[in-house]
Amino acid sequence: MTEQAITFAIQPSAHPVPAAARAEALAEPGFGRVFTDHMVTIAWSDGRGWHDAQLRPYGPLTMDPASQVFHYGQEIFEGLKAYRQASGAVVAFRPRANAARFNRSAARMAMPALPEDAFVEAIELLVTQDREWVPAAAEHSLYIRPFMIATYVGLGVSRPSPEYLFAVIASPAGAYFSRGVQPVSVWVAEEYTRAAAGGTGAAKTGGNYAGGFIGQLQAVQHGCDQVVWLDAAERRWVEELGGMNLFFVYGGGTAGAGRSARLVTPALTGTLLPGITRESLLTLAPDLGIQVEEGAISLQEWQADCESGEITEVFACGTAAVITPVGAVRSSSGGWTIGTGEPGPVTMRLRDQLLGIQFGQLPDPHGWVHKIC
Ligand code: PLP
Ligand code: COI
Repeated sequence: MTEQAITFAIQPSAHPVPAAARAEALAEPGFGRVFTDHMVTIAWSDGRGWHDAQLRPYGPLTMDPASQVFHYGQEIFEGLKAYRQASGAVVAFRPRANAARFNRSAARMAMPALPEDAFVEAIELLVTQDREWVPAAAEHSLYIRPFMIATYVGLGVSRPSPEYLFAVIASPAGAYFSRGVQPVSVWVAEEYTRAAAGGTGAAKTGGNYAGGFIGQLQAVQHGCDQVVWLDAAERRWVEELGGMNLFFVYGGGTAGAGRSARLVTPALTGTLLPGITRESLLTLAPDLGIQVEEGAISLQEWQADCESGEITEVFACGTAAVITPVGAVRSSSGGWTIGTGEPGPVTMRLRDQLLGIQFGQLPDPHGWVHKIC
């Protein structure tokens, strides 16, 4: 089947944020607090398919309170970043990988697929229009949030919504964690789980996060930064954090970082999110001579292998968090420190490599960087 051609109407904002206020927002962007001047929207209905594509001023969506998304949570989203490189070019990192995952999430949530070209074009239009919002400071970027919601008005649940809205918004981003690259601590969720076999764990859908906030709340109440989820069946296997995948570093030592290191990350069992950063690192690490393995790690092994010194580092990875060291684990029965509790050399080497590719300071052998403007 040929993909439906989507043409965007362009409506620039008559009241963009003044340059001084934008500069102030860019000075300390934090994460996801301020938004650029424009957004993209595209409507979909059963009869018309994708239509009414617009680049328009950023602003509230007016919706009927009976819209299905408010009641049944039929919603998916993505997260990717645009980077300002030293040459002045603005690039995105692997936007087609996000487009493909968006459509896998859509399929699981019984929502329509969006042609990948339209997903990428929507991002290109928004970032080009709002390019002044792409930060120039080291490691800062423009976080891009595409999403789709069910807009049909009605409370019946006899079928998925026959109407949707796709939108893209963007927000300048600094470090996701306020302490930057300092190691985070994680709290093991024992009472609650995030995703079970056959559920929605591999989809990037709001409900996974809504159901996970209680675990995150408990993490914060116990003085930790993030919740770590175990598998729902046995409550034994480590899956991922609330918004990041996990990597365990075996060996590596401090001298000659990475030479004999081996990375292990939980395999994609269907209950965790297939992170694009995770997949990129599985490709990048062997380029640096670091072995990689997708496998199963139990909570017990995590503790024992840290205590024996076999696990030397652990890090979390994701678009928002980039690569963030994990320094300590806590649970109702106590806790343990990982390595020295400080950022490890393998973690930092991979982080430098990934950021180097994204910011154009290192070669991009896998063609991941997508020039926008
Ligand atoms: N796991 C969860 C639950 C997430 O929300 C994210 C963030 O997107 C990730 C993992 C990492 O995915 P990615 O690297 O594609 O950002
Ligand atoms: C991302 O990294 O893009 C996410 O969606 C994770 C979220 C915790 C911000």
